[in-house]
Order: sequence, then C-alpha cells, then structure tokens
Amino acid sequence: GVRRRELQVLCVGLDNSGKTTIVNHLKPASAQSQDIVPTIGFSVEKFTTASLSLTVFDMSGQGRYRNLWEHYYREAQAVIFVVDSSDRLRMVVAKEELDSLLAHPDVSGRRVPLLVFANKMDLKESLSSVACSSLLGLQEVHQSPWHIVASNALKGEGLQEGVEWLQDQIR
Ligand code: GTP
Ligand code: MG
Repeated sequence: GVRRRELQVLCVGLDNSGKTTIVNHLKPASAQSQDIVPTIGFSVEKFTTASLSLTVFDMSGQGRYRNLWEHYYREAQAVIFVVDSSDRLRMVVAKEELDSLLAHPDVSGRRVPLLVFANKMDLKESLSSVACSSLLGLQEVHQSPWHIVASNALKGEGLQEGVEWLQDQIR
C-alpha cells in the first residue's frame, strides 16, 4: 500500500471561525458529516489524504474551553489556526489567543509550522488574507514557518492550498 507520513495537527481558533467545517471538508467524502454543531471540548479526527495520515485535534474555540488547547501543544507537529475573516471585532481576541499559543513553553522553542486560514472569504464584509495577516501580526512571527490562505470552508476553497503548504513543511 501507500506509505503515508503521520502527522498530528492541532486545529484552534475562536468559536464560530469554521474549524470543524474545515476539518470535515479535509476528510474523505465518505467520512464527512452533514451537519456540524459547535464543538464541545474537542474532537479527535483521524483520516488520510493523498500523502498524509492525519490525526487532527479539533478544539472548541468557546472561551470556557480555550484552556484545553495548551494540553495538546506538546504533541502538535503543526498548528492550523482559523480566523473568521468577517469578524473584525474579535480579530484582536484571535491575535491574543495566537500570541499566547506562540509564547507557550511547549511551542515557543520548537519549529511548529503554522497554517492560518482566513476563513469565510465568501462573506462580503470579510477582510483579505493580507489584512488578516497584518491584524494578527504574522510578520512578527519568526520562530516557525507560517502561511495564510483565504478560505471558504463551505465550498472547500483554499483548503487544498493550505494542506499542500503544510505537507511541504513536514520534514
Ligand atoms: P467551535 O467548535 O464552536 O469552536 O466553532 P468552529 O470554529 O468549529 O466553527 P464551525 O465549523 O462549527 O462553523 C461555525 C459556523 O460557520 C457554521 O454555521 C458554519 O457553517 C459556518 N462556516 C464555516 N466556514 C464558513 C465559510 O467559509 N463561509 C461561511 N459563510 N460560513 C462558514
Ligand atoms: Mg468546532
């Protein structure tokens, strides 16, 4: 059979940003669920893509569950950080959460490729990936490679580009 590289990915970001919708879309069609509800705590998803055998920790973004994220930092070989690009008011909160992730002792000294999805690009009030990048302060991130992609998780747009980038970062 095909030898796939195993990869543990942590998927975080504020509630309602589209994390579960993105993870669901990355799964093989037969494994996708039809209705997506807000995540309680977290959910572990295992599936394969063309070249990866993925274990994704899809965390809840609700405030009361965000303290769970850090327990998975150590195991994470890559991070997918999702922002709702139309949620201008909470972009500053998203930045705070990203900053504390990057400063955490289980992340800060390591190379952890960071893929950011500027999701909900289909909404007319959405900000461009360049604007999101700037509001998140990504240009100040030097500890790990990062990449931002505008996405529409409902249609799957941008997701493949993101996963391909991630794949290229895995050594
Ligand atoms: P929590 O589990 O609560 O942290 O939320 P989440 O980040 O997993 O968000 P979820 O995937 O549950 O999506 C939240 C809502 O946004 C749902 O109604 C989705 O259908 C919607 N949504 C997700 N991605 C997109 C997108 O690209 N465009 C639009 N218009 N809606 C989206
Ligand atoms: Mg969710």
